[in-house]
Amino acid sequence: VNAASPRFSVVAKSLASAIRRGVYRPGDRFPSLRQSSRTHRVALGTTLRAYAELEAWGLIEARVRSGYFVCAPRSASHQEPNRTKPSSQLTSVDVSELVFRLLDEIKGSEFLPLGSAFPSTELFPLDTLGRVAAAAARHLHPRCSLRDLPPGNIALRRAIAQRYWMAGCDVDPEDILITNGAMEAINLCLQAVVRAGDAVAIESPTFYGTLQAIERLQLRAVEIPTDPRTGIDVEALARSIRKHNVKACVLMSTFQNPLGSSMVDEQKRELIELLRRHAVPLIEDDVYAELYHSGVRPRPIKVFDQTGLVMHCGTFSKSLAPGYRIGWVAAGRFHEPVMRLKMMTSIATASLSQAALADYLRQFAFERHLRTLRSKLAAQLQGMTSAIGDSFPAGCRVTRPMGGYFLWIELPRKVDSLRLHTLAARERISLAPGPLFSAQRGYRNCVRLNFGHPWTSEMTHGVRTLGALIRSVS
Ligand SMILES: Cc1ncc(COP(=O)(O)O)c(C=O)c1O
Repeated sequence: VNAASPRFSVVAKSLASAIRRGVYRPGDRFPSLRQSSRTHRVALGTTLRAYAELEAWGLIEARVRSGYFVCAPRSASHQEPNRTKPSSQLTSVDVSELVFRLLDEIKGSEFLPLGSAFPSTELFPLDTLGRVAAAAARHLHPRCSLRDLPPGNIALRRAIAQRYWMAGCDVDPEDILITNGAMEAINLCLQAVVRAGDAVAIESPTFYGTLQAIERLQLRAVEIPTDPRTGIDVEALARSIRKHNVKACVLMSTFQNPLGSSMVDEQKRELIELLRRHAVPLIEDDVYAELYHSGVRPRPIKVFDQTGLVMHCGTFSKSLAPGYRIGWVAAGRFHEPVMRLKMMTSIATASLSQAALADYLRQFAFERHLRTLRSKLAAQLQGMTSAIGDSFPAGCRVTRPMGGYFLWIELPRKVDSLRLHTLAARERISLAPGPLFSAQRGYRNCVRLNFGHPWTSEMTHGVRTLGALIRSVS
């Protein structure tokens, strides 16, 4: 163990080795936080961080009111996908046609929404939000259109700053800019730091919205190998930065879309050090961070950033209010240029949406809503993983995310996910084919499935039908 490693990381490695050596086996109760603190002679907070690492590695899980347990592989019959291996070349991006065509084909409500990018609206407190929004509309300040100009509604920025503080991140209300969703934030951040033709490093596979932002600005993408458990390969990124004169990096440290991967803190430190050395700005797309299924909130890379290189993008679209279009960015040293671009692009974000969310966050128990949301997502994940375990052919590989609501599935080599998409659409089932997530149009035999919807018998039936379709084309 590296002598310079932080204490929690030493404890995490020692506990992980006890699991790997079989001292603790899948299903075993893991020592309590208090017991481990005594054994390792460290403070409770240190053990808590160590346990968070073990959870991120998928080795243990917290069960409500019963403590920690060693994880059993969730889908015994399916292994996890391996680290991805994209080509390291620069690629100009041209995915939009495919994205619009495929998404257009499956947008009807008659489809079982396994290809959707959104969670079910049933998971959100829409009635309460509606009442709060109605009251906010009645009380909207006459001068709000001036007052809420960028950086945006101060009460909302304060509420967001409080959540940063709770996540251990030093962000003040003045550092935050409210945007029309995280998508606008990502676009503005990219625009602030790159010019047409520049190279941008991304995870492979990655969110197609990021690919579209890169395409829109006529940038070139460098896809970096990414591990479905631990996220981007920092060494590969270092090689690409040297080779391609990378001007910015866009990535998701937590519950990456589509892989569900989460970086561990040590890698976040290495990454930030690498980016600092090369002065490469990072756009951290962190829209799923609140959706951890158990344990503690993962820390964003922004926590480790001493030099203001990280532009951290968040949103309420995934955790509270999908249609309100409220996101934000804490853009560090790029705050001012990003804010100007915001004004030049859309002037401001709607005052009513900002006021409604600020009032909701002040008056209502957001944390309680999040706890319910997280446990529902965890249960839905179990439902989908076991349905897949029962009905997908053995050659498939399935991720085991610790949060969010996406599964990434590698199908047998022969299966063409675009063809599968067409066959599934005939059965009124949607899915998101792999090539949507890659500048190089890779991942032809992969799909992303959404488990953000209540688990019903129709869902089980839909997954079985998909399994049968996959067998028919394998
Ligand atoms: C990874 C990722 N980033 C950003 C967004 C966009 O978020 P918003 O709805 O806040 O614009 C999404 C939505 O699908 C996403 O999956």
